[in-house]
Amino acid sequence: MNIHILGSATTSFGELWERSLMSLFAEAVEAALNDAKLEPADIEAAFIANKAAGSYENQHHLNALVSQLFPHFPPSVRVEGACASGSLAMIAAELALLSGRYKTVMVVGAEKMTDVSSQETTTILSGAADTSTEVGSTFPALYALLAKSHIKSYHTTREQLSAVAVKNHHHALSNPRAQFHKEISLEQVTKSQLISDPLRLLDCSPVSDGAAAVILSTQPVKGKTKLLGFGQAQDSVSLAGRSSLTSLRATKVAMDQALKDSGVSRDQLQAAEIHDCFTIAEILAIEDLGFFGPGEGGPATLEQRTTIGGKIVINPSGGLKGCGHPVGATGVKQIAFLNDYILRGDANVALAHNVGGSGATAVVHILGK
Ligand code: COA
Repeated sequence: MNIHILGSATTSFGELWERSLMSLFAEAVEAALNDAKLEPADIEAAFIANKAAGSYENQHHLNALVSQLFPHFPPSVRVEGACASGSLAMIAAELALLSGRYKTVMVVGAEKMTDVSSQETTTILSGAADTSTEVGSTFPALYALLAKSHIKSYHTTREQLSAVAVKNHHHALSNPRAQFHKEISLEQVTKSQLISDPLRLLDCSPVSDGAAAVILSTQPVKGKTKLLGFGQAQDSVSLAGRSSLTSLRATKVAMDQALKDSGVSRDQLQAAEIHDCFTIAEILAIEDLGFFGPGEGGPATLEQRTTIGGKIVINPSGGLKGCGHPVGATGVKQIAFLNDYILRGDANVALAHNVGGSGATAVVHILGK
């Protein structure tokens, strides 16, 4: 793929009660333009990622609202694919660029989740499950089932799950945009409030507000990060339709496609932003992406082989767990973060992995110099 990232930006993630959804979109748009040193008129089209503004605040028609942030009202489209909305908007933008229709476009994702109660947000998020067959289930409960299957098959331990949260909170300390800037211990995770057995409060990504934007172009510019390839795959929305509950098939297929598309080999990857909506999700992902064998993800994390300085750095931003998870923004933030990470020389080749629901949608992007 001959697509360059001309600029990127992420707002602070967190409980941003004083901010509106549109002000988050506007901040990300303006900051990405400044980063790319471009004028609004340089953006030929915009691709908007958001999961649930319709449910949170009865706000639909986001493509038009974001388009009016630009004086020339560029054509725009809103993409929704649950927590994978951001990376699906990336793919829509990439395909539009590859078609030759546009040369320079923006992808911007945002979510404003904290203006409603935890119960309401849990109900809204559960709309990403199959509401005809999984009615009543919550996302912590669905991932708890995956955790129980993994524990049963591979003897994954409480300590190994906790190690994912400890690492990602640690990594988030050096990310000024992250929701949490506090170290946590294995013991704190293990003793935190039980949410859905075996998952505890500190196994969960938080409820967050935030936005991120990237500007993509087919115009070659020296010294910029390149999108090298991507893969996307789908699976049954309902867990009952899956071939396995100890791995996410869609992640494996998307990874195979992304490696083929980019011509990159797995061992060239130095860092990865992974969809760790729950600690078990990161363990599943690092196994499904082939960084570790089945059942080896937990021990590898506990042995700090995925911490900065380890075999492969997993979630240097702090991931969804430490940086926060404003769902529509997450897939775009992963790319924006890795763009900065590569530009400052922390990695030459890196990967972003974004999942929708409990694994029905998976997207993998590979980026490099
Ligand atoms: N990680 C770390 N700390 C968290 C946290 C999390 N996931 N969620 C809340 N906290 C902290 C809060 O900052 C607060 O700290 P404070 O007392 O120092 O201010 C404290 O814990 C209590 O917060 P509260 O908002 O009352 O928690 P809650 O019980 O309402 O929500 C969860 C906790 C786990 C239920 C909620 O974070 C959640 O639903 N997470 C999953 C989101 C999700 O499903 N996303 C989609 C994934 S597919």
